[in-house]
Amino acid sequence: MLKIAAFEVRKDEIKDFKKAAEKYNVELIFTGKPLSVETFDFAEGCGAVTSLGHSRIDRVILNLMRDAGIRFYCTRTVGYNHINLEYARELGIRICNVSYPPNGVAEYTVMLMLMSLRKYKQAMFRGNVNDYSLEGLEGRELRNMTVGVVGTGRIGRTVIEILQGFGCRILAYDAYPNGSVADMAKYVELDTLYAESDVITLHTPLLESTYHMINRESIAKMKDGVVLINCARGSLMDVSDVIDGIEKQKFGALGLDVIEHEDGIYHVNHTVDIISNRDMAYIRQFPHVTMTQHMAFYTEEAVRSMVYGAVKNLRDLNKTGSSAFELF
Ligand code: COI
Repeated sequence: MLKIAAFEVRKDEIKDFKKAAEKYNVELIFTGKPLSVETFDFAEGCGAVTSLGHSRIDRVILNLMRDAGIRFYCTRTVGYNHINLEYARELGIRICNVSYPPNGVAEYTVMLMLMSLRKYKQAMFRGNVNDYSLEGLEGRELRNMTVGVVGTGRIGRTVIEILQGFGCRILAYDAYPNGSVADMAKYVELDTLYAESDVITLHTPLLESTYHMINRESIAKMKDGVVLINCARGSLMDVSDVIDGIEKQKFGALGLDVIEHEDGIYHVNHTVDIISNRDMAYIRQFPHVTMTQHMAFYTEEAVRSMVYGAVKNLRDLNKTGSSAFELF
């Protein structure tokens, strides 16, 4: 029977893990810790491993997996920028990701747009101290705006679907345009999207070609007062260039569910710790920057899909030699 070591397991995943292990007839051990050199021993005797995205699946970890006879790894995430796929392939370690409904992230994206446009962060802070004034809280209506969606995969497409009800003009950019999206949004070049959008939302994977795509040059192409939403990956943005833009009053607002170097910080209670991410601390304090802890994905529906998907994919690799979710 395949034995799976599950890392980065949250309490809310445990019941689904237990049910999935029964359903797919695998043995499962789990820990809340990320997979690292320090925690690797936990996987001893296992044939497969799963974790979330805060474990770095780099050359060192992959070498340890090879030496321990671990042949399969599944990330319980859609994104796989934390995995050295090329090296895994060299070692013959088979890698999968999972898929979950795009609605959770898409709905959260639209929520951050609305919170940003209606200055909800400031309104909420004021309410906490019984300041019920309106000054400075005037918002803007989406129906009069152009929204630019960068990346029209499952999440970007769902954002566009949801936005249909708001009556805004929608521009889209993707290296591989999708016919069904073209009925709801106008595909344009990236520079046109930057120049014409009042709200820009990022839904592209983190690749070499998209790393720091939001930087000094691209920000300069955007409208003054642009609202930037990022529920994808922190490293799509060069944070110090974004901070420069904020200080120069380029942005109307930012809604950021992700930030560069969030690993080890997000998804952990650090109330009494010293956090050493200066950019994160500095950007958070601006009144028009709403930041959350990489939680756009976090719905019951998504969690179930992530857990069942990981167990099934590893079982499939072991039992049938292939999985529809294998990454090459
Ligand atoms: C993903 O699935 O790619 C995510 O971003 C969610 C994850 C970090 C738990």
